Amino acid sequence: MKVLGLVGSPRKGGNTDLLVSAVLYGAGSSGNEIEKLFLYDFDISPCVDCRGCKKRDHKCVFKDGMKLLYPKLDEADVIILGTPLYWYGPTAKMKLLIDRLRPYTASGKLKGKRAVLVVPSEEGAEACKHLVGMFDSSFNYLGLELAGKILATASEKGEVKDQPKTLDEAFQLGKQLK
Ligand SMILES: Cc1cc2nc3c(=O)[nH]c(=O)nc-3n(C[C@H](O)[C@H](O)[C@H](O)COP(=O)(O)O)c2cc1C
Repeated sequence: MKVLGLVGSPRKGGNTDLLVSAVLYGAGSSGNEIEKLFLYDFDISPCVDCRGCKKRDHKCVFKDGMKLLYPKLDEADVIILGTPLYWYGPTAKMKLLIDRLRPYTASGKLKGKRAVLVVPSEEGAEACKHLVGMFDSSFNYLGLELAGKILATASEKGEVKDQPKTLDEAFQLGKQLK
C-alpha cells in the first residue's frame, strides 16, 4: 500500500513535519511504501473555477506543481494531510491544494482512499474544530474515509519532539494503516 504524506507547513523540521513523519514511520513499519512531500516546495496556483476539469478527461488546465502532485494523489492509498492551524483554518498553501482537488469531484478518483489529518496548534484540539469540520466535509464530498487524526498542542518549531506520547500516537496511527 502507498502512503503519501503532505506537509502543509512552511517550516521543515517543524511540528507538522515531525508529526506527519511519525505517521509515515508507523506506516512504513508495517510494510507500506511511504513518501513525504512539502507543499511549499510546489508552485500551486489558485483554482479559478474555469470548469475545465468538468469536461473531457477531468484534468486541470493549469501546468504548475500540481502536475506532479496529481499522479502522487492518484497512486496513493492513504493520504496524510498535515497543516498547522493558521487563524483557525489550514495554511494558505494547504487550502490551495484542497481547492485544486476539484478535478476529483468529476473523476471520483479519490473515492475509497483513506485520509489522515495532522494539525499542530498553539491552542490545541478545541481550537481546530472549524478546520476539522472543513476537512471532514471535504473528505466526505470526495469519498475519502477519515482514518484518523492527530491534533497536537505545540507552538515553537519542533516542540513536539518533547512530546513522546503524541509522537507515539502518530506512529501507532500510521502502523495500523494496513
Ligand atoms: C500565521 C499564523 C497563524 C496562526 N494561527 C493560529 C491559531 O489560530 N490558533 C493556534 O492555536 N495557533 C496558531 N498558530 C500557531 C501554529 O499553529 C503553531 O505554531 C504550529 O505548531 C506551527 O506548526 P509548524 O511547526 O508545523 O509550522 C499560528 C501561526 C501562524 C504563523
